[in-house]
Amino acid sequence: MSVLILGVRGMLGQALAQEFSGAGYEMTSCDRAELDITDRVLVLEKIGALKPQIVINAAAYNSIDKAETEDRDLAFKINGEAVGYLVEAAARVGAFFVHYSTDYVFRGDRKDGYTEDDAPDPQSVYAKSKFEGEKKVIGQYLIRTSRLFGPAGIGDSVKKSFVDVMLKLGGEKKELDLVDEEVSSPTYVVDLARATRELIESSAPAGIYHCTNFGACTWYEWAKKIFELTKLNVKLNPVPANKFPRPAKRPKFSKLLNTKSPPLRKWEDALAEYLAPEKK
Ligand SMILES: NC(=O)c1ccc[n+]([C@@H]2O[C@H](COP(=O)([O-])OP(=O)(O)OC[C@H]3O[C@@H](n4cnc5c(N)ncnc54)[C@H](OP(=O)(O)O)[C@@H]3O)[C@@H](O)[C@H]2O)c1
Repeated sequence: MSVLILGVRGMLGQALAQEFSGAGYEMTSCDRAELDITDRVLVLEKIGALKPQIVINAAAYNSIDKAETEDRDLAFKINGEAVGYLVEAAARVGAFFVHYSTDYVFRGDRKDGYTEDDAPDPQSVYAKSKFEGEKKVIGQYLIRTSRLFGPAGIGDSVKKSFVDVMLKLGGEKKELDLVDEEVSSPTYVVDLARATRELIESSAPAGIYHCTNFGACTWYEWAKKIFELTKLNVKLNPVPANKFPRPAKRPKFSKLLNTKSPPLRKWEDALAEYLAPEKK
């Protein structure tokens, strides 16, 4: 099978490239310099020429606060409009299309979490732009995920994951204030990439899938586990979210309930693997 991975220099893009090439797929990938997904003509040309059997889109605009203050149009272009171009291009060559969205499309007031069938109610520009993209993916795989961590991407716009930020701060500070709110599920990109391949290979019906590591935590609880596993001696103070005002509103509870596909391992186990000494 031939697969085209877009956004390959991002955190998930890198993991997908490793997963699909390791599994023997005929893989082609593009970064932003090779294919700007907001250029419809180029998207149709490139995908038309490559004729992959599967197109996986890991490209996205992910600066949640900047989307709120200065990049609204860009966020909608990349996360919304461009997804429509990719769907169109994939359909023209008969390719199956896989796209990713976020727990942030939900309002965030359901303590027990959200299933694939719950209605989105996005509360920030970033979340609204991702929801715009979701609406374009019909009859394909739409995978919602949350709080990615893993080996960092290598693209110009990629951010450090929370785990890597904590590892850096843990080496510099003796004490940290961490938000003990905003419950969601950390997700290891390596597990997500494998689950994506397995979903495609399972020929499961098209539709929305929730794919995160099992369990959920606040930022404080996540940091506590990171420092416990790395034995970094940092005093953590749990604080409310309003201690760090940010431009974009975050959901308070956005655990994604997976009711349709095999569950992934617990987030603590995936984190332990990422932090294993030989991987640091
Ligand atoms: N990270 C999370 O915690 C999280 C949570 C929930 C859902 N998700 C979703 O998971 C997916 C993967 O996220 P990620 O964290 O791996 O993203 P990432 O590391 O930020 O990578 C995104 C990639 O998209 C590329 N890109 C941006 N604009 C582009 C354009 N116009 N044309 C082509 N490529 C473009 C970037 O390229 P350059 O770097 O070269 O600009 C970058 O390589 C996204 O759909 C994201 O919304 C992520």
